[in-house]
Amino acid sequence: MVYPIVKYGDPVLERTADIVAEFDTPELHRFLDDMFESMYAAKGVGLAAPQIGVSRRIAVIDVSCGEEPADKIVLINPEVIKVEGKQKGEEGCLSIPGFREDVRRGKRVTVRAQDAKGAGFEMTGEDLLARALQHETDHLFGRLYITHISALKRELIRQKVRKLAKAGDWA
Ligand code: NI
Repeated sequence: MVYPIVKYGDPVLERTADIVAEFDTPELHRFLDDMFESMYAAKGVGLAAPQIGVSRRIAVIDVSCGEEPADKIVLINPEVIKVEGKQKGEEGCLSIPGFREDVRRGKRVTVRAQDAKGAGFEMTGEDLLARALQHETDHLFGRLYITHISALKRELIRQKVRKLAKAGDWA
């Protein structure tokens, strides 16, 4: 099932999501399938559960956009545990469509997380994957990428979104 993507302005995007305590249930497996399906339908490389209105610490990533099954990543209860180096590049978010800004991120990032069965693992990514690991983990703590840009740029986006919402073009 493809879920609609929740847009910036919905409070679910700016609160810390609930920790997942139950693993390997049919419900969780179905939910993960739905998350991948929703992400591919929206042409994203990452999706966090709050973006489909579900406040649980679950994110999926696939920087190959569905081309490489081995690139499918499930992160449950992730935490960034190591950040090395720096990169600067354009970033966007399915919940803030139509906007992109330069964001500074770590170049090489390690997260600790659990898989669908509850097993703990660590993974390290570089460049685009490092950016996705940080961006999606941030989502689960209520942080959008615009919290990493200047207050002025953030305010401009907020004003434009407010206008779009008023015109009924932001839902
Ligand atoms: Ni996002």
